[in-house]
Amino acid sequence: MKHNVVVIGSLNYDILVQQDRLPEIGETFTGNELMLMPGGKGANQAVQCARLGLNVNMVGCVGNDIYGAELIKSLNENGVSVDKISQRGKTSGIGIVQILESGDYCSTIIKGANYLIAEDDINADLFIDRPLVILQSEIPDRLVERAITLARQHDCKILLNNAPARDISAQALSQVDFLVVNETEASFMSAGPVTSVREALTCAESLHQRVKDRVIITLGEKGAVLSGDEGARHFPAVFCPDVVDTTGAGDSFIGGLAYCLVNRLPLEEGIPFAAEISSCSIQKYGGQSSFPMLPDVAHALTQNHQRLFG
Ligand code: RIB
Repeated sequence: MKHNVVVIGSLNYDILVQQDRLPEIGETFTGNELMLMPGGKGANQAVQCARLGLNVNMVGCVGNDIYGAELIKSLNENGVSVDKISQRGKTSGIGIVQILESGDYCSTIIKGANYLIAEDDINADLFIDRPLVILQSEIPDRLVERAITLARQHDCKILLNNAPARDISAQALSQVDFLVVNETEASFMSAGPVTSVREALTCAESLHQRVKDRVIITLGEKGAVLSGDEGARHFPAVFCPDVVDTTGAGDSFIGGLAYCLVNRLPLEEGIPFAAEISSCSIQKYGGQSSFPMLPDVAHALTQNHQRLFG
C-alpha cells in the first residue's frame, strides 16, 4: 500500500473520568463514570486520517502490557499500518483525562513507551514519496526535530501540532510547513495571552514569521484562525448544542486538515471541513471512538470537492 500520510508520535491508553468538577488539593472527590479507551495525540490523528480514507503509516512505541496490545489493535481496526509500531519496556503511555459537565477536559499524560522510540525508528525511507508527515510533542524533542530535518530533505510537507507545547528550536520551526496549536499552546509559544479572536489573529501573524508556510490556532467554540503570507483570517466554529467531551477534538481537526492537504484542497476550505469533523467528535465520549468517517462529513466539502469523496 502506498501511504500518503506518516504520523510519528504518541499512543496512550486513556483513562477518562466524567466528574462534576475538579477536586481541591487534599480533597477526595467522587467521579460519575469511568471509561477506558485508546488515545494519544499521534494515534488519534492517525485514526482520524484513516477514517477519512487516507493511507496512514504510524511510527510509535507501546509497552509490553495489555494496553500496548489494545492500542495496536485499535490502529489495526481503523486501517492504520502498524508495522512501524514497536513494543518496548514495561508500560505504555497513559492519558488520565478528567471530563467536566461542560465537555471541557484536562489531562495528565504518563510518557511510558512513547519515550522509548529510537533515532533509528525515524529514517529517511519514511519520507520518500510521502506528501505529508504529522508530528506532535508527546515524544522526545530530539526525535521531532530529527523527523523535521529528514522530511524537509525529502520534500515531504510537515504538519507540527506542538501539543503539549514545548520549546522547539528556531531552526526546526522554520522548516515546519503547517504549525497547528490551540490557545494555550499558542500562548506558550508567543509568551502572550491568547484569550480572544483578536489576540489569536495577532499571535498567529507573529508565529507565522517563524514557520515556513502557515499557522493555525484553534480556539474551541470561538473557531480557528489561519495566518499565511496573505495575512490572518478568522473562521467561526460549527455550532454544536450537545457538547459531551472535547477530548481529541484537536486531533480530529488535524485529521481533517491532513485530508485537505493530501488532496490539495486549499486550507480556506480545509479549516471549515476540519471544524465540522471536530464538532462531530465532541458529541461522544473519548478520542478515537468519537471520530467520524468520511461519509459523515463529506457534506462539509464544497460541491466542487465532493468529487473526491465520490
Ligand atoms: O488530544 C487528546 C489526547 O491527548 C488524549 O487521547 C490523551 O492521551 C492525550 O495524549
